[in-house]
Amino acid sequence: MTSFFSDLFKKESKSVLGVDIGTSAVKVVQLRKERGSVVLETYGAIALGPYAGVEIGRATSLPAEKIAEALKDVIREANVTTANAAVSIPYSSSLISLIKLPSAVEKDLAQVVPIEARKYIPVPINEVLLDWFPVSGGSQKKEDKIEVLLVAIHNDTISKFKNIASDAALAVEFFEIEVFSAVRAALERGVAPVAVVDMGAATTKFYVVERGLIRESHILSQGAQDLTLAASRSLGISVVQAEERKRKTGLMENGSAGFRNSLEISLSPLVSEMARTAVSFEQRNNASLGAIVLTGGGATLRGLKEFMQSKMQNEIRLADPFGKTQAPAFLEAILKDAGPEFSVAVGLALRALQEA
Ligand SMILES: Nc1ncnc2c1ncn2[C@@H]1O[C@H](COP(=O)(O)OP(=O)(O)OP(=O)(O)O)[C@@H](O)[C@H]1O
Ligand SMILES: [Mg+2]
Repeated sequence: MTSFFSDLFKKESKSVLGVDIGTSAVKVVQLRKERGSVVLETYGAIALGPYAGVEIGRATSLPAEKIAEALKDVIREANVTTANAAVSIPYSSSLISLIKLPSAVEKDLAQVVPIEARKYIPVPINEVLLDWFPVSGGSQKKEDKIEVLLVAIHNDTISKFKNIASDAALAVEFFEIEVFSAVRAALERGVAPVAVVDMGAATTKFYVVERGLIRESHILSQGAQDLTLAASRSLGISVVQAEERKRKTGLMENGSAGFRNSLEISLSPLVSEMARTAVSFEQRNNASLGAIVLTGGGATLRGLKEFMQSKMQNEIRLADPFGKTQAPAFLEAILKDAGPEFSVAVGLALRALQEA
């Protein structure tokens, strides 16, 4: 009996850490399971700009040692108490494509996919980690074809992230391409196709998800830092000042009209890309996107949801990843506002809990 209870206790009390290494910031979220519910233990973010000699909010390209330094700092500042981690792999370091195969090979995917993958992957197949998931079904099922989502990550990328984690004394339970983590955290259960738009620092990632499965993904080389850089240029203020104003008043009425106008102009390529994604999905699939869910630090821009809604027919929502966790009531509003920035880290930790 004692061992039964101690096992149970061990299982219930294991804490896990989701680690999202973005280009502009590292985010961590620690969760634990308690009586069947998911408890938020701690979370934190640290800007990478200062480690690269650039402003907060800007994308960086840092060596593993510097990223590990930032990761150790945020682990300390957030009082993280577990080493059991799940770590994201950037979308830009991976290759994701939807391939069609004859239904006849459905049982032999383990043999067929690696051979087929050579057509899609621009480097030798032994240099990548390969994974795949069948995604056909429902409206997408074309009788004699199955669709498989092919995922490849270069070995060099994996070893870089392994080094970062071990430098920070973390035991990595798994690596996951950020697409899957973001979608897990940002979406409610549902079958209607939705788009998830992750607004990072230098890029914005677009994912279309149906019945929980990723159907399409692409990246736009325009992100939240471009709002700051453009505002700095057009208003003749420093990048630091522009970033501060962006975070403080954003698109709200209490900010200056000139500043708001600059942000709105900078957002227009994103609006166009969102509209294009929605229309092309709708034309190809004869089904409309139920909603567009905004996530990433860029989605925390004040007034963004309302602005996007005024431009789009589809329903616009903000990701609320902490809504999937239990936290003290007084934190509720803060967690809702900060949530989009932490989608990837929450999504990683949620999967780590399931697998714990
Ligand atoms: N309160 C805020 N209001 C507006 N923008 C914000 C706010 N907080 C952060 N941002 C912006 O969000 C961006 C960072 O978002 P995020 O942390 O999701 O990026 P990242 O994960 O580092 O980037 P990527 O996913 O592209 O690697 C920065 O450019 C920053 O200016
Ligand atoms: Mg990110």
